[in-house]
Amino acid sequence: MKVYIETERLIIRNFEDSDADGIFKLDSDPEVHTYLGNNPIKTIDQAKEIIDRVKKHYEVNGIGRLAIIDRKTNDFIGWSGIKFEQGVREFDYFDLGYRLRKEYWGKGIATEASIESLKYGFDERNLQKIGAGADIDNLASNRVLQKVGFKFIDRFDFEEDPHNFYEITRSEWNKAKRTANNV
Ligand SMILES: CC(C)(COP(=O)(O)OP(=O)(O)OC[C@H]1O[C@@H](n2cnc3c(N)ncnc32)[C@H](O)[C@@H]1OP(=O)(O)O)[C@@H](O)C(=O)NCCC(=O)NCCS
Repeated sequence: MKVYIETERLIIRNFEDSDADGIFKLDSDPEVHTYLGNNPIKTIDQAKEIIDRVKKHYEVNGIGRLAIIDRKTNDFIGWSGIKFEQGVREFDYFDLGYRLRKEYWGKGIATEASIESLKYGFDERNLQKIGAGADIDNLASNRVLQKVGFKFIDRFDFEEDPHNFYEITRSEWNKAKRTANNV
């Protein structure tokens, strides 16, 4: 699997070993981990393990999370993309996710990257349905999912915290024809 997507301001591409510093900045920040189990990483080796895990997903499942890079500065912003999720719900599914460094919050980047990920999943990979979960208190994440067209399905507990589960089908996506400018 090889993905390289460019938007006006972003590059969305496969993870590379050189992203370890960026992942460390992202995942060592306690605020980023508020709704992710409150267990930020502490070492660069843990960042490298995260990248290895994502690369394994590319290999085994043919799909996985993607790095988001600032096109102008080449800075590592975070990640988005679709993962084949096993063990979170009582069924396996393709999951949309995102995680950004704090300095990039509030600029519409998660929304933009999610739209590109959905485009990739539905148009390039022919997926029929994509799911997503968010802690019920993670208002920004719930809002992103609603903005890009996800429908609320049900609630579930993940690591003892209540989460909302959403889905979007291929036909809903095709009907909505969302772009970063018409969410
Ligand atoms: C969730 C996250 C990816 C959002 O990224 P982002 O680029 O800031 O999101 P966007 O700017 O595209 O959209 C955020 C939306 O939520 C809204 N929002 C943000 N904080 C909010 C809050 N506290 N209450 C209500 N709405 C809020 C924004 O106003 C915006 O909606 P709008 O465009 O209608 O105004 C980012 O906060 C993050 O990385 N958090 C840490 C990791 C994480 O929680 N990941 C998700 C796990 S499910």
